[in-house]
Amino acid sequence: MSAPVKVVVVYHSGYGHTVKIAEAVARGAAATDGATVELVPADEAPGRWDILDDADAIVMGAPTYMGSLSAPFKAFMDATSNLQYVEKRWAGKIAAGFANGASRGGDKQNSLIQLMTFAAQHQMHWVNLGLNYGNNRSYTNEDILNRDSYTLGMAGQADMDQSGDVAPPYSDIRTAEFLGRRVAEVAQELAVGRAWLGRPANRGVAGGADNQDPERRGVVIPEGETIPNGLVAA
Ligand SMILES: Cc1cc2nc3c(=O)[nH]c(=O)nc-3n(C[C@H](O)[C@H](O)[C@H](O)COP(=O)(O)O)c2cc1C
Repeated sequence: MSAPVKVVVVYHSGYGHTVKIAEAVARGAAATDGATVELVPADEAPGRWDILDDADAIVMGAPTYMGSLSAPFKAFMDATSNLQYVEKRWAGKIAAGFANGASRGGDKQNSLIQLMTFAAQHQMHWVNLGLNYGNNRSYTNEDILNRDSYTLGMAGQADMDQSGDVAPPYSDIRTAEFLGRRVAEVAQELAVGRAWLGRPANRGVAGGADNQDPERRGVVIPEGETIPNGLVAA
């Protein structure tokens, strides 16, 4: 059984490596029956907000420059503060991410945490990589998925003296495909679940510090009364 879901991959790539990962994430998502996928370069996002606002899942990625997400990708993040953040347009969507660097570690974890924090600011649901650490046994090698052992998202490694035609290597490309497929599948599970429960996709709490909880999802139990699961007011 499949369900229609829209996945958008938004990315920056300065020198042609990270785009290969973005394309692989898109391929993985597109391999999921029912999923449609759009690739959006970060600098084009402000002209294509409609596509992003309409997505079920947004996968974001960029090279790590100087230990954090590249400046053009950060510009995209900041640009979402005007409408998407204020109106909580992306609340309830799925988010996932990938980082790329020339080094094995290269502080890419910082970039993934940056993406995850950004997703939380938008009240999105973060989907992790869903793989174990790879390449940490004497009998494993570079060809294994998740060879550099990240969990928050996909992290690629591209030797800086090689072009995007060969770097990052095939194991990273397959890991990115895996993430794309996982995101599309989770998006379907969430969409079908919401339809089953009759719940809207976006129940975001908009406003600055004005957390009014319009649906009253915070529970205040009148003294002495119980709620259906048996909890009693303190
Ligand atoms: C200004 C600059 C800073 C960089 N800083 C890092 C870094 O902190 N960690 C890392 O692993 N690689 C770093 N790199 C290497 C790039 O992340 C790497 O070459 C990557 O594959 C570039 O992706 P792109 O071709 O999509 O731009 C840096 C590259 C540049 C140009």
